[in-house]
Amino acid sequence: MAVLILGSTSPIARAVADQYAARGHSICLAARDVNEAQRIASDLEIRHQVEAKALAFDARDFDSHPDFIEQARQSVGPIDVALVAFGAMGDQELSQRDFEKARQVIEVNYTGAASLCEALAEEMTHRGQGTIIGITSVAGDRGRASNYIYGSAKGAFTLYLQGLRNRLADEGVHVLTVKLGFVDTRMTFGMDTAIPVAAPDAAARAIVDAAGQGTEVLYYPRFWRGIMAVIKSIPERFFKHLSL
Ligand SMILES: NC(=O)c1ccc[n+]([C@@H]2O[C@H](COP(=O)([O-])OP(=O)(O)OC[C@H]3O[C@@H](n4cnc5c(N)ncnc54)[C@H](OP(=O)(O)O)[C@@H]3O)[C@@H](O)[C@H]2O)c1
Repeated sequence: MAVLILGSTSPIARAVADQYAARGHSICLAARDVNEAQRIASDLEIRHQVEAKALAFDARDFDSHPDFIEQARQSVGPIDVALVAFGAMGDQELSQRDFEKARQVIEVNYTGAASLCEALAEEMTHRGQGTIIGITSVAGDRGRASNYIYGSAKGAFTLYLQGLRNRLADEGVHVLTVKLGFVDTRMTFGMDTAIPVAAPDAAARAIVDAAGQGTEVLYYPRFWRGIMAVIKSIPERFFKHLSL
C-alpha cells in the first residue's frame, strides 16, 4: 500500500507518515522544502525498512497539481491513502489590511487543497479505491472576528470534503474529514490557550485509526465536538459581541 503525505514538514503529517511506515507501507512525502522531506524519508526508511520518497510541491501552484499527482504515483505506485495536511494560519490583522495576505491564506487552505483533492479523486476513481484524508479545523465551524480569514478557508474546505465524500461514496473512494482543535505545532507555538493542546503523535494515531475504520468526520481532540456544538448554538446577535 502507498501513502502520499502532502505537507510533510508538519509534525502531525510527519507522525501520520511514521504510523503508516511502521505498518510497512510505502510513503511519498511531499513538501515545499524537498530537502527536509528527503531527510524525513531517509529516517523512515532506516527505522521502518520501507520505501520512502520525497517530492516537491506547492499548494498554490494549481496548474502543476495533476502532473504532480502523476509523479507521486510513478514514484511509489498507485496511491491508496492521501493525507492533505498542509495549511497556513496567516495573520488575521495583516490580512484585514492587505488582501494579498488574505488571498494567500485562502489559496493554501482552500483552493490548493481542493485542487489537489480533485487530482487525487481522478486518480483514485480510476482504480475504484482509495482514501483521502483532509485536515481542516474547528475554526471552520463558525466565523469568529479574530480568525475569520483562516476560518472561512477551512470552513470551505470542510464543505468541499463533505461534497467530495458524497460524490465518491459509490466509487470505492472514502473521504475522511479531520477537524482539529489545538495541537502542539509551529501553528500554535506561543499561543495562550486555556484549552489543552494535544500532542501530534496522539492526533496522528486518532487520524490513522479513523481512516482505517471508515469514519466520516473526526474531531480531535474529541471534546472539540462538544465545544463546537455549544459555540454553534450561541445566537448571532450575542455571538457578534463576544471577543472570540
Ligand atoms: N496545530 C493546530 O492546532 C491545528 C489546528 C487546526 C488545524 N490545523 C491544521 O493542521 C494542518 C497541519 O498544520 P500544523 O499544525 O502541523 O502546522 P505547521 O507545522 O505550520 O504545518 C503546516 C504545513 O503546511 C505546509 N504549507 C504551508 N503553505 C504551503 C504551501 N503553499 N504549499 C505546500 N505546503 C505548504 C507547511 O510547509 P513549510 O514547512 O514549507 O512551511 C507545513 O508542512 C494544517 O492544515 C493546519 O491548518 C492545525
